Amino acid sequence: MEQRKSVLSGIQPTGHMHFGNYFGAVKNWVRLQEDYTCVFCVVDYHAITMPYNPKKLAEATWDLVANLMAVGVKPENLCIQSLIPEHAELCWILNCFTSYGLLTRMTQFKDKSAQSQEESGEGFISAGLFDYPVLQAADILIYRADYVPIGKDQEQHLELTRNIAQRFNNQVGKEYFVLPEPLYTEVLKVRSTADPERKMSKSLGEKHYINVFEEENRLRKQIRSAVTDTGDTPAGEMSPGVENLFLLLKASGKVEAHNSLMDTYRAGNLKYVDLKEAVADALAELSNGFRARKAELAANKKEIKNQIRESSAVIRKRAQETVREVKELTGLLNVRF
Ligand code: TRP
Repeated sequence: MEQRKSVLSGIQPTGHMHFGNYFGAVKNWVRLQEDYTCVFCVVDYHAITMPYNPKKLAEATWDLVANLMAVGVKPENLCIQSLIPEHAELCWILNCFTSYGLLTRMTQFKDKSAQSQEESGEGFISAGLFDYPVLQAADILIYRADYVPIGKDQEQHLELTRNIAQRFNNQVGKEYFVLPEPLYTEVLKVRSTADPERKMSKSLGEKHYINVFEEENRLRKQIRSAVTDTGDTPAGEMSPGVENLFLLLKASGKVEAHNSLMDTYRAGNLKYVDLKEAVADALAELSNGFRARKAELAANKKEIKNQIRESSAVIRKRAQETVREVKELTGLLNVRF
């Protein structure tokens, strides 16, 4: 049998999971599990690069694990970064194969350092934040991942990862690391129903995102109050709010309802209440399923923790193997205690 290609991705343990995260990334992960060997890593080492609350991090990490499992990520593909300290060890080694000049040109650092200065209240920017992309490179290279499913915002980080891998390979005189490639799959970027000019996001405030575990009444209320036409859209064009509702319907997999409502829209007969009702039905069906699954998981917290510790231990074996080989190739010492 042909060996499956491998996929790696990471996600930070921050905030609730909303439909923007789900349709924009996590749903794709669930699908990728069918065709690839996958590792999905909850990256808590990355989470501490920004101002954060140490008392809440562990809980946020376990919460995210449960959320990912509730929407269909298989536990055997899930791991927690800090349970695999080799990520940090490889990061250190890769630091020494990373061009300082390239690292200073990372655009995400520019955005996040401004945010860090503001949030810390004392203008603090951690060196960890500067080094963030090298840790990400370690996450990817440690499993020799073939593909990384990414959006535009992570392109530069993947390019840097390839640069680091290439430099490492040149220095040690061996094609050791696989140069990972981006995996661009169709993901739908849904926007805030309260302000359809902006993407769905937790940081904009409560009205601007819909939790994937939202209770049905509240979800329906949110869709009912979605902005449709503000009167600013030129005649003959679809307003961003209506477009977003159609997008939500399509993202939920309701293709038939989407197409028939679209025909009605084109004929000039669409009532927005009907569109909203179809969207609310579709999202409620999803969130009801997710919520039920999450309740089951919540009743088995201990078991889940054990399961993820176990899967992290299995995944860690591969990370340990890589670090052992990297130490050999770079002249560092390996000892079996
Ligand atoms: N930087 C990624 C983000 O903010 C998270 C991440 C960490 C990641 N390590 C990764 C993504 C490895 C892909 C591969 O979304």
